[in-house]
Amino acid sequence: MSRSEKLVIAVSGKGGVGKTTITALMLRALIDMGIKSILVVDADPASNLPDVLGVKIGKTVGEVTNELKKAIDRGELPPLLSKRDFLEFKVFEVLNELPDFDLLVMGRTEGEGCYCMVNDVLTEVVDALSRNYAITLMDMEAGLEHLSRRTDRDVDYMIIVTDPSKMGFMTASRIKNLASEVHIEFKNIFLVGNKFSLDQENLLYKYANEIGVEPLGIVPYDENVFHFNLEGVSLLKLPDDSPALRAVKNIVKKMNLVR
Ligand SMILES: Nc1ncnc2c1ncn2[C@@H]1O[C@H](COP(=O)(O)OP(=O)(O)OP(=O)(O)O)[C@@H](O)[C@H]1O
Ligand SMILES: [Mg+2]
Repeated sequence: MSRSEKLVIAVSGKGGVGKTTITALMLRALIDMGIKSILVVDADPASNLPDVLGVKIGKTVGEVTNELKKAIDRGELPPLLSKRDFLEFKVFEVLNELPDFDLLVMGRTEGEGCYCMVNDVLTEVVDALSRNYAITLMDMEAGLEHLSRRTDRDVDYMIIVTDPSKMGFMTASRIKNLASEVHIEFKNIFLVGNKFSLDQENLLYKYANEIGVEPLGIVPYDENVFHFNLEGVSLLKLPDDSPALRAVKNIVKKMNLVR
């Protein structure tokens, strides 16, 4: 990867299809590839990713943004500090710096509509932060909501995860169509089949073709993933020969991130 190249990868799809799991396994794949500069963003308000990665976090971006909104309402923001500077400062403060990657947890913001200015500034701040990293990996919230919120405007690789179900494929199709309706241009849109058995692989190719996205491959159901989550052990510690991890490593290779 050349120094100037900054890649943003977002993982989306229907609820429960395995977005957070695939994000964690992609992170592990990137770390194992020796990529040093990785920002992971948990953009799902439900914030499961820190637990799955075994990271204890403090405040979320949503929490500090709410503090800003309250300060604005009370007229308490110091006059010399612009809203952008304040948020930038706060976002850096809540960034979790870990040995192999940095983790930013968005969490929940309150009072959407009336504070769009703050939300826009927030998007700007997160965009600016991501430019400091070779790769930004984002675990998106389920469904389509994020598409209307600009959070994935500058995504290079949109990975849509689906399980082998009609609803999964339909959500994938709606993400693809809605993105073009709201004029978000993803440079690449890929489809990943999670919890697919080998004999279901052709289904992924068939639907990817219908939807008009590129199939990247399937990830099998993996007992290790189940047990690690049950026992609260970080998925980053999965053994090298775990079937789901091996499949995700192949998928990351196919994405051709390192040129
Ligand atoms: N390949 C897999 N093998 C075994 N279990 C899996 C696999 N992928 C996901 N799971 C399990 O399925 C459940 C849902 O996965 P996950 O939380 O990653 O989905 P999600 O799409 O992020 O869900 P949400 O929409 O709630 O954010 C979890 O319990 C996870 O452990
Ligand atoms: Mg999730």
